[in-house]
This record gives sequence, structure tokens and C-alpha cells, in this order.
Amino acid sequence: MAKKILIISTSLRKDSNSEILAHEFEKGAKEAGNEVEFVSLKGKRIAFCNGCGMCQKTGRCNIRDDANAIVDKMARSEVIVWAAPIYYYEMPGQMKTLIDRANCLFCTENAIRETYVLMTCSDESQTAVDGPLKGVSGWVRCLQGVELKGHVCATSTTEPNTVLESPAFMQAYNLGKSIE
Ligand SMILES: Cc1cc2nc3c(=O)[nH]c(=O)nc-3n(C[C@H](O)[C@H](O)[C@H](O)COP(=O)(O)O)c2cc1C
Repeated sequence: MAKKILIISTSLRKDSNSEILAHEFEKGAKEAGNEVEFVSLKGKRIAFCNGCGMCQKTGRCNIRDDANAIVDKMARSEVIVWAAPIYYYEMPGQMKTLIDRANCLFCTENAIRETYVLMTCSDESQTAVDGPLKGVSGWVRCLQGVELKGHVCATSTTEPNTVLESPAFMQAYNLGKSIE
């Protein structure tokens, strides 16, 4: 059955490698008949969570900026796909900031059941993605009924556009296509 998928591309770089993976995933997922929405954090204003806890009482974040609309889309999607560069062997700060701002999902009804991770890095080893996957697993652990279903990591991709040469390019397409 077709799923409602939200792809969140978190790199702010032009010709971003992880965004290229995100579009390949999108292509595969659409071909498999899913309903796919693509959001980029480029140009978005997203403040840090200030930990006030109001979202746990009201189900909404008190801060008004571009995070609110993205979090609403997240809540309505069955599948969340995170595309991101690896920064200091972790997820980039802008991705973590959005996850923190989505804290209302912890206490409100939402459609999210699966998540996928698409990452790119300079390192030659797949172990580079261990830190980010641990971080995303922490998020998943806090959301009931959500599973981290798969990931793709493109290694040795430092300069923009270099992911086109990586086996991860096809892997991202295949992962998207596998969703049904
Ligand atoms: C602030 C910063 C930190 C980075 N840290 C790492 C790192 O810890 N390990 C690594 O392999 N690559 C690291 N990189 C390289 C990026 O992960 C790599 O260039 C990636 O392809 C960028 O993806 P993008 O084009 O989607 O932004 C770092 C790059 C930046 C700008």
C-alpha cells in the first residue's frame, strides 16, 4: 500500500551530496507508488528548543518559526527520511535542532512508523555513520511504534556532487523503491 513519505534534506550546501541521495530516494519511492514530499532546510529559520516544556502540555511549540510547518508535516507522515552530511561523526546541528523542536511528537498522536537515514561523509569507512545512527536511534526510541528501517552512507564524498560516483547513489534509489 502506498505510504506518505516526508524527506527532510538538512544540508545547507549548494550541490549537496546528501540532497542528491535524497532526490534519488524520492525518485525510487515515487516509482514504487508512494506519496512523497520533499523539504529542504535551506533558507529556513529554526531556533533552538528552549526546553520550556509547553509542547508537552499544549501539543504545540511556543516558538513561531519555520520549524512548526515542518513538524506538522512530520506528524502527518508515515515515513520520515533524513538526508544529512556527517559533521564531526554525528548528525549536523541543524538536523538535531529540528529533532529537538519536534518534541511535541513525543506526546501527541502522529502517523510516523518508519524512518530512514541517508548520509554522506569524507571518511572512507562505513563506521563513520555509527554516531549519527546512534543519534537517530535515540529519537526513534522516544517515539512509540517507530522503527529505523534502513540507511545509506556514501563514504569518500567530500566535494559537492561527488556522490554521483558512489555506489550509494544507486543504493538510495533502491531503498526508496523498496518502500511499499
Ligand atoms: C563542519 C563539517 C564537519 C564535518 N565532519 C566530518 C566528519 O566528522 N567525518 C567525515 O567523514 N566528514 C566530515 N565532513 C565532510 C562532509 O560530511 C562531506 O563533505 C559531505 O559529503 C557533505 O555533505 P553535503 O554535500 O550533503 O553537505 C564535515 C564537513 C563539515 C563542513
